[in-house]
Amino acid sequence: MNLSGKHLVLGLTGGIACYKSAELTRILTQAGATIQVVMTKSATQFITPITMRALSGQPVYTSQWAARIDNNMPHIELSRRADAIVIAPASADFIAKLANGLCNDLLSTLAMARSCSLLVVPAMNRQMWQNPATQRNIAQLCNDGIIVLGPDAGPQACGEIGDGRMLEPTAIYEAIIAFFQPKTLEGQRVLITAGPTFEPIDPVRGITNRSSGKMGFALARAAAQAGARVHLISGPVALATPWGVSRKNVQTAQKMYNAVMKAITDTDTNIFIAVAAVADWRAAHVSNHKLKKTVGKPPPPLDLIENPDILASVAALPSPPYCVGFAAESSELSMNSEAKRRRKNVPLLIGNLGPKTFGKDGNKVVLFDTTGSTPLPRADKHSLARTLVDEIAQRMPGNICA
Ligand code: C5P
Repeated sequence: MNLSGKHLVLGLTGGIACYKSAELTRILTQAGATIQVVMTKSATQFITPITMRALSGQPVYTSQWAARIDNNMPHIELSRRADAIVIAPASADFIAKLANGLCNDLLSTLAMARSCSLLVVPAMNRQMWQNPATQRNIAQLCNDGIIVLGPDAGPQACGEIGDGRMLEPTAIYEAIIAFFQPKTLEGQRVLITAGPTFEPIDPVRGITNRSSGKMGFALARAAAQAGARVHLISGPVALATPWGVSRKNVQTAQKMYNAVMKAITDTDTNIFIAVAAVADWRAAHVSNHKLKKTVGKPPPPLDLIENPDILASVAALPSPPYCVGFAAESSELSMNSEAKRRRKNVPLLIGNLGPKTFGKDGNKVVLFDTTGSTPLPRADKHSLARTLVDEIAQRMPGNICA
């Protein structure tokens, strides 16, 4: 479980988004975290402490005068036990209090008395969010080292549309997991290709590869959690963009090549991870209309031309980023993977016996680098992605552990 052993104080302040905090509590407890809920008086107008107690499995604190703690100092006790304090939803009023060091209730007092990190998840009407006072206060929180998550944009409970919605519980959960990950890629810019490409033959048919995109997306998520700025260039897949990752969708290998080269030219990319299952060939002539099947006639000929090798092209740049390739082999894993690593001239290639793992959540891979091969134990794609991110971070030139 991703948050086993973690103690979180979850603070709720007054806002309709309190209903999302019920779901957030359920997600966090299922991930293994111990959740201590603290509510302001206003929060109890929106959701009851009984609901939050049932979901967290812990008594809920609503007052600094609660006599439940032996020394009668819940603001000190609760913050000392916490690995982090998360305020979700954080109202404009509560943000203003935090920015100015006011503490006149239990939640604001324990936030002031904390010795751990504070994560604030704003939720308010879009005009309240845009108000210069709120923007000043948010800037102050960032200056004070408080982590501000969101807000989202979209329809609001008041009927208006704009910035100020609280992040969805799953996004907050992702951000909390990211917060606890070691920042092995802090300051690095990572570019990742993922998914298959689709090469059209006519408006309805095409050539593609089998790839769910799960491994590439898991790597993007893990790299972002490790502190990197991650840009994902994805072929056609049905996957949500990981939290904190920017994404460009493409269809063909040529479009993927163009997007990768543009990203490398526009930004100072440090690491390029090519996970995409790029189609090796495309149709030499793409028909504008659907090719018709005529009974008694032979099928139309299909001339193919080769697509650019994106990974090899990036590795051949005058000063390439650290390049990582993937190889899905159907046999002779070691020989084929090492040969591929040398041919593409990349320092690290991750090989697996592909067809068996397509679309699955687990994978077993072997790392091939200049020093030889290292098998990794079978793991689900998210754990594996975290291990691979660590392996890449250790191998980065300039890493003293490398
Ligand atoms: O040659 P093969 O397709 O097996 O190589 C796999 C590796 O090369 C993967 O990292 C894949 O993303 C990358 N690749 C590429 N452009 C291609 C073909 C493969 O970037 N045209």
